Amino acid sequence: MVNILAFCVFTLSFVGSSYTTNVVAISRDCGGYMFVGDSVVIDGPLKKNCILKFKTQEDRILVFSLIDGNFKEAEQYFSIHDGIDGDSPILLVENQKLSEVSRKDLPASVYSTQSTASIRFKKTASANFKLKIQKAVNCPFNLGSASQCGRVVDQVSCYCATFIKRNQSDQTMFCVDNGMKLIAFESQAEEGLIQST
Ligand SMILES: *[C@@H]1O[C@H](CO)[C@@H](O)[C@H](O)[C@H]1NC(C)=O
Repeated sequence: MVNILAFCVFTLSFVGSSYTTNVVAISRDCGGYMFVGDSVVIDGPLKKNCILKFKTQEDRILVFSLIDGNFKEAEQYFSIHDGIDGDSPILLVENQKLSEVSRKDLPASVYSTQSTASIRFKKTASANFKLKIQKAVNCPFNLGSASQCGRVVDQVSCYCATFIKRNQSDQTMFCVDNGMKLIAFESQAEEGLIQST
């Protein structure tokens, strides 16, 4: 008997495709407000007391990752906040809930829970660092029983596997009901990556 595994996907980018990244150098300007279309890279260092505010599409969230360098070290220079208000809580790498099926080799990242986030610089960084900020979709742990979700391809997409056997139209509806779509694998590489995870 063959096990049928269906995948719902909520993806912003597909494996192998490239999408634009704006590199922003703001070492001289302190503070600012930025709309994140797909992704931006901030090239530090930035000065003490700078506050950078980010916004993306209303129904999306933001993900922060360091291109080189490590978050533990960088966190002494800045804090990342969930939202842009003065009392927005700090987001810490160690508090990020990552689904069990997410790829462990993806860079350590910090996810906001809403479409806005901010960075506050506590002290001027001695080292240069590159911080990447991307638009991402929210990723639930599961879609009810007998399903599992995770970031298995990149940091911005979310895949959910459902282990309940349904016919194609029911499976499609299940995904749509959860704001996702039933996946058709576009390449063997993508399929292999997801199946192995
Ligand atoms: C799919 O299954 C449902 C019951 O779960 C049934 O009502 C529906 O007619 C089926 N659709 C097809 C195309 O077989």
